[in-house]
Amino acid sequence: MDANKLMRDDLKDLVPYEPHPYSDVIKLDANENPHEFPPEVLNKICFLLKGEIFTRYPDPMGDKLRGEIAKMTDMGIENIILGNGSDELIQLILQTFGGPGKRVVIPAPTFAMYKIHGQITGTRPVEVLRNQDFSLNIENLLKEMRNPETGITFIASPNNPTGTAVPPEQIESITRKVESLVVVDEAYIDFGGQTCLPLVKKCPNLIILRTFSKIALAGLRVGYLLAHRDVVVELTKVKQPYNVNAFSQMAAVAVLDNWPLFRAQIEEIKSERVRLETELEKIDDITVIPSQANFILFRVRGPAGWLHSQLLEKGILVRKKPGVTHGLEQCLRVTVGTREENDMFLEKIKEVLIPQKEME
Ligand SMILES: Cc1ncc(COP(=O)(O)O)c(C=O)c1O
Repeated sequence: MDANKLMRDDLKDLVPYEPHPYSDVIKLDANENPHEFPPEVLNKICFLLKGEIFTRYPDPMGDKLRGEIAKMTDMGIENIILGNGSDELIQLILQTFGGPGKRVVIPAPTFAMYKIHGQITGTRPVEVLRNQDFSLNIENLLKEMRNPETGITFIASPNNPTGTAVPPEQIESITRKVESLVVVDEAYIDFGGQTCLPLVKKCPNLIILRTFSKIALAGLRVGYLLAHRDVVVELTKVKQPYNVNAFSQMAAVAVLDNWPLFRAQIEEIKSERVRLETELEKIDDITVIPSQANFILFRVRGPAGWLHSQLLEKGILVRKKPGVTHGLEQCLRVTVGTREENDMFLEKIKEVLIPQKEME
């Protein structure tokens, strides 16, 4: 049997997500929180564990967690859906409002999963190049958003991998000009940029996407979206009934109950980001793209692949975009680590780049 022959024709060329099989490296490639999960929160979670979390199906809508998110965001519980990571919600939005004959508009470069989930759901991805400074090209974007086949537009703010944010006024202006859905992905909003959340009450076609992954729970997969109740009603019809497991729901509630501890880690990451940016800028041949997220995109003079493997040999893993285009050919993305990890990264990158310069 040739399984590839049996596969849907439009999916045959998909490439599986590439896991990073490196051990013994300083991992600065996945935009995770590098700090220890606060032991006191871990203890509380263990204390609350009961057998029924394992034996019973979870609450399908996660009302306790939705209630906490509603309080934090000043929205109603009926405006919220939980997801098994925000990745699942990206797919859910496309399954519900995209599909064959529909298009999804994506300002590129950006998070790869918008395009991949577009392909998987049979929604045609249409990429609109950003400006040189990675701001949105509003004119070209609106042209594609106004196409009658466009069902959804995904805008990450702050954006991955550029770290740039879009002002809410710009989002409001384009959202008001179209009838299709606009999704603002705020996965990195705790690190910078201005939230578009207040716009949900004014723009019924706006969806805000968030995740717990960048702060605390990447391993437990918890994301959520906030939208007009009518949008939530339609999404709920398509959602897998038990998409977020009971343990993850409980852990996410514990994170929100202890938010000041995580807030302190966020502040530490933000101040390390500023230090890293300053130190990287001092190295000849590196240009830093100013970031509002927990990572930094930087451009080098030669091909980025070479520097990536040199750093890996020295035990540092950063992110190189596969098959890069859109002006990222010479760029690498480094996640802000702990102070010690960042020092090590700076030391190693100087070791690689400075002798190189001296040889010229
Ligand atoms: C912009 C953006 N959105 C969503 C996600 C997915 O996050 P999650 O872990 O919640 O699926 C990521 C992960 O890197 C991201 O960069």
